[in-house]
Amino acid sequence: MQTVYLIGFMGSGKSTVGKLLHETLGGMYADTDQMIIDKYGEIVSIFEQKGEKQFRYYESEMLKHTAGGKFIVSTGGGIIERQENGEFMKNNGRIVYLATSFDEITRRLGNDPERPLWDKNHSEKERLYQRRNRIYSALADLKIMTDHKSPHSVAKEILGYLQ
Ligand code: S3P
Repeated sequence: MQTVYLIGFMGSGKSTVGKLLHETLGGMYADTDQMIIDKYGEIVSIFEQKGEKQFRYYESEMLKHTAGGKFIVSTGGGIIERQENGEFMKNNGRIVYLATSFDEITRRLGNDPERPLWDKNHSEKERLYQRRNRIYSALADLKIMTDHKSPHSVAKEILGYLQ
């Protein structure tokens, strides 16, 4: 088994699917958001008090903990905002993009106050989505559409690819 990095927009199911993969594949599990929360506190507070740039540094720091191990890694949706993170993931494992349509993301997230970057008007949200969609797609070794699929069936598709 090699390290698998799950990337995708907020609400695409990275944490749920990551845990399912880990249950089947074993190895180690890392969730970059959770690692940041454990070390630095709540994400909303980090954004408010230190800003997005600092949060992005923390993400890079957490990602580096996965070097040399066999991990399933659930990343935060903005991990690809730093190009070096994309390069790091490329060099250290397989990248799986959980691709979810904008309409479905909007439905799943509603107005989630815990996600600072979702606190925008509709067209800003869509622009963010489209810009990131291009980056996720360019980085992905595997792209899976997740609309209308259960986390179990998404995990099963990934397992099929990894075999
Ligand atoms: C972010 C996504 C969040 C979290 C933070 C920033 C983003 O993670 O890292 O709120 O920039 O898209 P999820 O993708 O798990 O929601």
